[in-house]
Amino acid sequence: MLICHCKKVTDATIREAVKNGARSRGLVGRVCGAGTCCGGCLPAVDEILQAEREETPRGLPMLAVG
Ligand code: FES
Repeated sequence: MLICHCKKVTDATIREAVKNGARSRGLVGRVCGAGTCCGGCLPAVDEILQAEREETPRGLPMLAVG
């Protein structure tokens, strides 16, 4: 799905950028351009950032319980 209409960036491209370490709006913009023009897509970029952060917590070791 197209998220950033200005730069023609899809949600898949943004997710890939986040998985590769772009963990802020600014970094996502630098990597793929999303959010760097009118800013209208930034709420959607934030949603993707949040979803990806929850999916892959950073700096927390996975603990085996039980
Ligand atoms: S829609 Fe993404 S910067 Fe305009």
